[in-house]
Amino acid sequence: MTALTVALVLVVAAAVILRWRRPAWYWMAFGAAYATLRVLVRYASVMDACGLTVPPSRWRLAFARIANRPVPESRAPRILRVHPTCTGLLLRLKLRPGQDAFDISAASDRLRHSFAMYGVTSRELRSGVVEVRMTGYDVLKRVRMPVKTDKAPMRVPVALREDGAVHYRDYRAVPHGLTLGATESGKSVYQRNLVAGLAPMDVALVGIDCKQGVELFPLARRFSALADTPDTALDLLEALVSHMADVYQLIRAEQRMTVNVPDAEIAADIWDLPEHLRPVPIVVLVDEVAELALFASKDEEKRRDRIITALVRLAQLGRAAGIYLEICGQRFGSELGKGITMLRAQLTGRTAHRVNDESSANMAFGDIFPDAVLAAIQIPTDTPGIAVTGDSSGGWARIRAPHTSLRQAVNLCNKHADRTPELPALAPFRPATAALPSDRVPLSKTAPATV
Ligand SMILES: Nc1ncnc2c1ncn2[C@@H]1O[C@H](COP(=O)(O)OP(=O)(O)OP(=O)(O)O)[C@@H](O)[C@H]1O
Ligand SMILES: [Mg+2]
Repeated sequence: MTALTVALVLVVAAAVILRWRRPAWYWMAFGAAYATLRVLVRYASVMDACGLTVPPSRWRLAFARIANRPVPESRAPRILRVHPTCTGLLLRLKLRPGQDAFDISAASDRLRHSFAMYGVTSRELRSGVVEVRMTGYDVLKRVRMPVKTDKAPMRVPVALREDGAVHYRDYRAVPHGLTLGATESGKSVYQRNLVAGLAPMDVALVGIDCKQGVELFPLARRFSALADTPDTALDLLEALVSHMADVYQLIRAEQRMTVNVPDAEIAADIWDLPEHLRPVPIVVLVDEVAELALFASKDEEKRRDRIITALVRLAQLGRAAGIYLEICGQRFGSELGKGITMLRAQLTGRTAHRVNDESSANMAFGDIFPDAVLAAIQIPTDTPGIAVTGDSSGGWARIRAPHTSLRQAVNLCNKHADRTPELPALAPFRPATAALPSDRVPLSKTAPATV
């Protein structure tokens, strides 16, 4: 055997092993180039076979007749751009007269088989231009977030979509969110990813974790306020409602409504305020929300009503004051009592992890995306973390957050502990934490008492 044959065998063996064990690496090393070549070479014949070509126009036929040339062939959409990404290929197509974006999306399954890709989706970018997004492998099997993501305030890259795009939780576009799912379906891991994404931003985190605080208390260093029982949750929520009133007073004081003030300078929410006056935005994370709505006695019922009222008020009025709700639970329906459906109607962002029955999925999507209900029920039990989410384009998509362990999230929160804002209104709920080792003063000096 010559050296060349040995090298060739080694490369082929490496490709086969990578494809089997590490599809993402295989894609970047071999798959992307091979798939680009295959798409370019087979493009015309595949489009023809999938019924995506148009017959030649009259003037082309006439021209061919005059010039005594053979009859021109049918033409496929023109390729404007082929762009390999770390999960697949992006194809931008210019449609021919008579074609529409629906033709491409209707043929996406045929294109998937013909180009031997894992998944194909398409969307219209502008009139006549369609983007076809192809994935080379199952990107949700082992989620790796791209290194480069969009950086914008209050926009967290939280999960990967089935088509390889990043799913963002954008608090300014969708202020309040609801995440549902059966037990062990991945809700808390999703929420942990949100905390990890928010930790480096200028934002105050407030947590209510009625599972005795097991999920959120380890992340306490980055939290400005935490509650682990319904009693403390009530006090915390009422403190937030009064903080919200203070923020509105501040915005009103800043509204100089004279005729000279240009439109853009009239403040109607915290983002219109000058930076030095702007109160820090607050994300309120609630895990196991049903615990807040359950009661066993008359006193507990009164407490429950006050909690739900405070949550409804925060959901109704919180956005302009920079207070955003992120609610997680196993079920969130009318059986939890009055006020729940009203609160749910305010929670625009919906995400459903695996659910056990249709009625739970209906709580997330029944009123907006009926076919997403079916997709949520079909999520298998052996893939925790896969979820269905409503997206900004008015449709829905399957997503999965990366598996961030509690240790990784704790490290990140500790690293950004100095970003934790002190909110006077929430001071009584500030979690007690010991100083980090690096912050400790040497023993020779008088050590101040740690909070
Ligand atoms: N995105 C993910 N990728 C891989 N594994 C995951 C993912 N999300 C969750 N898991 C696995 O599923 C387990 C359960 O997840 P999690 O604690 O988030 O469930 P949960 O829905 O909050 O459950 P519960 O309702 O009991 O609190 C985790 O320990 C983890 O091993
Ligand atoms: Mg949980």
